[in-house]
Amino acid sequence: MEHKIVLIPGDGIGPEIVREAKKVLDGVCEKYGHTFQYEEALIGGASIDTYGVPLTDETIAAANSADAVLMGSVGGDAATSPWYQLEPSKRPEAGLLKIRKELNLFANLRPAYLYSQLREACPLRPDIIETGFDLLIMRELTGGLYFGERKTYEENGVWTAVDTLVYNEQEIRRIAVKGFEIARKRQKKVTSVDKANVLDSSRLWRKVVEEVAADYPDVKLEHMLVDNCAMQLVRDPGQFDVVLTENMFGDILSDEASMITGSIGMLSSASLNETKFGLYEPSHGSAPDIAGQDKANPIATILSAAMMLRYSLDLDQEADAVEQAVQKVLSQGYRTVDIMSEGCTCVGTRKMGELILKNL
Ligand code: IPM
Ligand code: MG
Repeated sequence: MEHKIVLIPGDGIGPEIVREAKKVLDGVCEKYGHTFQYEEALIGGASIDTYGVPLTDETIAAANSADAVLMGSVGGDAATSPWYQLEPSKRPEAGLLKIRKELNLFANLRPAYLYSQLREACPLRPDIIETGFDLLIMRELTGGLYFGERKTYEENGVWTAVDTLVYNEQEIRRIAVKGFEIARKRQKKVTSVDKANVLDSSRLWRKVVEEVAADYPDVKLEHMLVDNCAMQLVRDPGQFDVVLTENMFGDILSDEASMITGSIGMLSSASLNETKFGLYEPSHGSAPDIAGQDKANPIATILSAAMMLRYSLDLDQEADAVEQAVQKVLSQGYRTVDIMSEGCTCVGTRKMGELILKNL
């Protein structure tokens, strides 16, 4: 099969992790007889350096013409990078938010799974992770605090900043439907996370989620307050299947969920709209402190490429093969530095990519 894929390496460790993921995709093509046509595009700081803006119409057009986008990471060191001298709407992250909005990628899937091989790297006590965990954060990605009106102003010599958290019922309904649909294919449980004891937006969220749940009697729904959820994730992560939540809560909880898998370098993600198209990226950031040093863990990006094969290209068998190759390499004891534990072999970014390719 022939497919068009846009690669957006981005900033920091982005180029090196995307390079390894492409290597694995090339291996998939060779093994299964597919042709992927690639086009490279810029985003974030890389785009600012070339075009003066963090996202161009050309990058959006390229993404729109493709079956899927595989992205690295966006952003730099805010304390030292000149990108952060620009006004907020021209900084690298604004490009990421814009591409999510322009492509209507409202559903962000972030699976967090405990590999048996990485138990040693998990910061939780062995008795807590005895039965493992396999959860998926379904994060709303194009609404809430990220996209509400914001301003900073001075009044009578006092500076004030405002961010607005807005959701309408349609935005809540479509992400809830995605959450229940995917729960149906998993353990049939949705934990809807909100702050309904304080926020109006959360009270509407809860009401709409309950309406949607009525269409899925086979899926169990529970509601959980976000502060409790943050606590439950480290107390008993095995209780979760699909965690359905709004944009900001999902951002925070997904970092927490990734860390309990052993490292933030393990967590893949898919951002989807109503069609088969998707943008795939690791959930971690651009780690400018280790960029270009062959230290970054490429596994989250390689697993994101596997999600791309599965969700946008309908290549389930190929996706399984990539995921199994990752497992095999971990079983063989190879680790990047972030997931390193005693008795294992520490390898760099490039070597990890090669090993996964070899085990396809
Ligand atoms: C993520 C990141 C982004 C977000 C940043 C870089 C804007 O943290 O994808 O989780 O907050 O969504
Ligand atoms: Mg984040």
